[in-house]
Amino acid sequence: MKVLLLNGSPHEKGCTYTALSEAAQALEADGIETEILWVGRSAGIGCAGCGACAKLGKCVVDDIVNTIAEKVRQCDGLIVGSPVHYASASGQITGVMDRLFYSAGAALRCKPGAAVVSARRAGTTAALDQLNKYFMINQMPVVSSRYWNMVHGSTAEDVLKDEEGVAVMRTLGHNMAWLLKSIAAGREAGVPEPVQVPPARTNFIR
Ligand SMILES: Cc1cc2nc3c(=O)[nH]c(=O)nc-3n(C[C@H](O)[C@H](O)[C@H](O)COP(=O)(O)O)c2cc1C
Repeated sequence: MKVLLLNGSPHEKGCTYTALSEAAQALEADGIETEILWVGRSAGIGCAGCGACAKLGKCVVDDIVNTIAEKVRQCDGLIVGSPVHYASASGQITGVMDRLFYSAGAALRCKPGAAVVSARRAGTTAALDQLNKYFMINQMPVVSSRYWNMVHGSTAEDVLKDEEGVAVMRTLGHNMAWLLKSIAAGREAGVPEPVQVPPARTNFIR
């Protein structure tokens, strides 16, 4: 079993990476393979809403999003990390998540997801809420920890001094490993995936 961890920070080895590494180490300790993937600094292209992905099976902008889409098809769980930028997730990860879920959301359905955020001080709960919504619209079990999944600091060293934040990340990793093993055991025992209710797509003017 494998978990893909996305680092949505412009800093390859900063606070978000440090938080994700703690979760990854806990997953590895529990026998789950991990890969931390940095989305890069220029990954923030938003979704054009062109709908081409419905025909192509991938985003028409052939960049890191399609690389991630290939990887999520092979993975069993996803952890998304972001620094807090103006009380939101970073522009980089927001662009990636919009396009990833629009073009390849089906590959993530029923796979556990979790979000992790890092801030110097505030805006953590708003950013966490934003990221959790991708999982919740896509039938993904959301993995929790003992507190909300956040660390504090301006540098990687700060994050390691945030003892409670580090413990939250480790707990998250162990909790995701437990859920992955439980889902695999359920599948082995013959528990089917949930029944898909035919979608009713309405809007507010009809
Ligand atoms: C554009 C920008 C906006 C930021 N906005 C906030 C904010 O709203 N609240 C906060 O506490 N920190 C804010 N920060 C600080 C980062 O969230 C914080 O230092 C984070 O831990 C950095 O993580 P990283 O090293 O993975 O990039 C901001 C940083 C940048 C570059």
